[in-house]
Amino acid sequence: MITLDMIRKPVTAELEAFDEFVDRQFTAEGELLSDMLRYALSSRGKGIRPLLVLLSAAMNSPVTGAAGGRRVHLAAMLVEMVHVASLIHDDVIDEADTRRGKPSANARWQSHKAVILGDFILARNMNIGLASGQYDLVTHVCGSMAALCEGEVLQSDCAEKRTMTRQAYLDIIYKKTACLIGISASAGAMAVGAPREKVALMRRFGEAVGMAFQIQDDILDYTHTAHTGKPANNDLREGKITLPLLAVLDMAGSERRAELLGRLACCHDDERSVEYLQQIVENEGGLAFAAEVMRSYVTRAVEMLAEYEPSDYRTALANLCTYISERDR
Ligand code: IPE
Ligand code: IPE
Ligand code: MG
Ligand code: MG
Ligand code: MG
Repeated sequence: MITLDMIRKPVTAELEAFDEFVDRQFTAEGELLSDMLRYALSSRGKGIRPLLVLLSAAMNSPVTGAAGGRRVHLAAMLVEMVHVASLIHDDVIDEADTRRGKPSANARWQSHKAVILGDFILARNMNIGLASGQYDLVTHVCGSMAALCEGEVLQSDCAEKRTMTRQAYLDIIYKKTACLIGISASAGAMAVGAPREKVALMRRFGEAVGMAFQIQDDILDYTHTAHTGKPANNDLREGKITLPLLAVLDMAGSERRAELLGRLACCHDDERSVEYLQQIVENEGGLAFAAEVMRSYVTRAVEMLAEYEPSDYRTALANLCTYISERDR
C-alpha cells in the first residue's frame, strides 16, 4: 500500500518550507477574519496539488532535484489556495456540514461568512501573486479559476434538470477538478523554466491524474467505509448524477430510468431514497464501472511519465497515480 508519506519523501524539506511560506504570506486583519483564516489554514487536507507542483518542479529542473526556490513555493501556494477557497465555497453550495472531519466553515460561521472567507483567500492569493511579479505563474493559475466556476454551474444545471450524459460528466469533472490539477503539475515545470513541450506534457499528465482523482472522489462519496472526513452520500442528497449512478442509469430501460430519477428527486429530504439508490449503485456495478474508467486515466497518466529519465521524483509521481486509485480518504 502506497502512502502519502512515501510520496512526499523526496520533497519533505521543500514541503516544510512551503508550509512556512503560506503561513507567512496569509494573514488577515480583524479578529473574526483572522480566526476564520487560521481555521482554514490549520485544517488543510492531503495537499496533493502542492505536492504535484514540487515533484514536477524537481523532475523538470535543469539542476537535479532543485524543487526549492521562491517561484516554486509561489506556484504551490497559488494552486493550493485556489483549492482551499473553492472547497469553502463548495461546502456552501453542497450544503455540507463537515470537511476533513471538522465542521465546515459554513457550519461553523454560517454561509455568508464562509463565502466572504473564500473570497478573501482568493483575493489575498492573487494579491500575493501579483506583488511577487511572477506574472506567468499567476496568469497560468488564473485560467483554472474560471474553468472551476464553469464546471460548478454546469453541474448545478444538470442536477436541477436531472439530466446527465457521459460527455457532460467528463466535461464537468475536467473543469471543476482536472483543470486545476493539470495546472498544478505544469506550474511546477514552468516555475523551474522547463521547455514549453515539457510544461504541456505535465499539464496533460496532471489532467489525467485530475480526472482519476475526481472519479475516485465520486466513488468515495458512495463508500461508507471511506475516511474522507466528509458526509457520505452527499452527491445523492444534492441530486448529482456522478459516474457510478450514471453507469446504472445508462444500463436501465426507460421505465426503470424514470423510476430511479424519481427517487433521486426525493433524496434531498428523504434518507430512505438515499439509501435505496446507494444500494442499487453498489449492487448493480456502478462503483466497479466507475473504478474501471478511473484506472484508465491513471494508466494514461503513468504512461506519460515514460518521457522522463528514472528518478526518485518520477517514481514518486508514479506512486501518486497509484495512491489516487487506491485512496480511501
Ligand atoms: C476534494 O479535494 C475536492 C475534489 C476536487 C475532489 P481533495 O481530496 O484534494 O481535498 P483535501 O484538500 O485533501 O481535503
Ligand atoms: C469537487 O467536487 C469540488 C471542487 C472542485 C470545488 P465535490 O463537491 O465532489 O468535492 P467534495 O467531495 O465536497 O470535496
Ligand atoms: Mg461540489
Ligand atoms: Mg462538495
Ligand atoms: Mg465529492
